[in-house]
Amino acid sequence: MGATLLLCVTGSIAAYKAADLASRLKQAGHQVTAVMTEAAQQLVSANTFLNLTGSRVYTDLWDPQGQTEHIALTDRADLVVVAPATANCLAKIAHGLADDMVSTTLLAVRSPVLVCPAMNTRMWNHPVVQKNLAAVRALPGYHVLEPGAGNLACGHVGPGRLAEPADIARAVEVLLASRPGAAGEPAPEPLDTFLELVTYDAAPSPEAQERERAYRAELLRQGALASSGSLGALRRAHVHRARSYDEALERARRSPLAGSGCRIEVWAWRLDAGLPAGDA
Ligand SMILES: Cc1cc2nc3c(=O)[nH]c(=O)nc-3n(C[C@H](O)[C@H](O)[C@H](O)COP(=O)(O)O)c2cc1C
Repeated sequence: MGATLLLCVTGSIAAYKAADLASRLKQAGHQVTAVMTEAAQQLVSANTFLNLTGSRVYTDLWDPQGQTEHIALTDRADLVVVAPATANCLAKIAHGLADDMVSTTLLAVRSPVLVCPAMNTRMWNHPVVQKNLAAVRALPGYHVLEPGAGNLACGHVGPGRLAEPADIARAVEVLLASRPGAAGEPAPEPLDTFLELVTYDAAPSPEAQERERAYRAELLRQGALASSGSLGALRRAHVHRARSYDEALERARRSPLAGSGCRIEVWAWRLDAGLPAGDA
């Protein structure tokens, strides 16, 4: 059964890819409502989303047609996707700013949120962006779909490129399979979801942080789609397969390692990718 999705589009040059994503999600049977920032509308027209989704596009907090629409929208949403998410948007989420329709909507959200950052490599590598990203990853219900590396619109080469719309759509399906309303529905097909248990040091050394960066890069190289929480400073990783995101979370909660200084993560995985390297 189709879900109700909010697609928040912010002002990255990759905003045009959100149109492809909207179309894919709609074709998959979901009801998609786009919410756009002012900067996003400089890059792609609200009319594009209106026509692709068949739903009204929300751009203005002060729209006379409904001044608390940001609350009503989040009441109805099964999942919120922020794609692309600018550095500015990450900062707003991390700090709880609410000064436009997208950021105010995000603060009212009760459903899971999938955040898909996109930006120039130098912006992505900026310590304050990484700090904000870590804060977003740590928010309950928030999942980050890491950007890919490659040629960027600005001519730079490196990480920061928006994940491909097909991968975002796939991560959406993984997250939807564990939404509360899904309980009474027929059992979903086994999903390409894995449970990660990761131990960490409370005060990570620069070497530990470097190990974490390398491990995260390796997970992405091997096909990771979405993650919850921060890796912390990695020491050991345990990898298990689960049938659903919910099952993976439940197993994580029941683990004897939970609450013993162990960071728990759930990663969605591509079916065609092998098991990521863990040491257990
Ligand atoms: C052509 C153009 C492309 C941009 N692309 C990006 C981008 O990919 N990622 C990003 O974080 N900012 C990008 N920016 C800067 C943002 O648009 C700017 O920070 C804006 O304030 C973001 O607002 P928003 O988060 O409300 O959409 C771009 C700016 C321009 C002019």
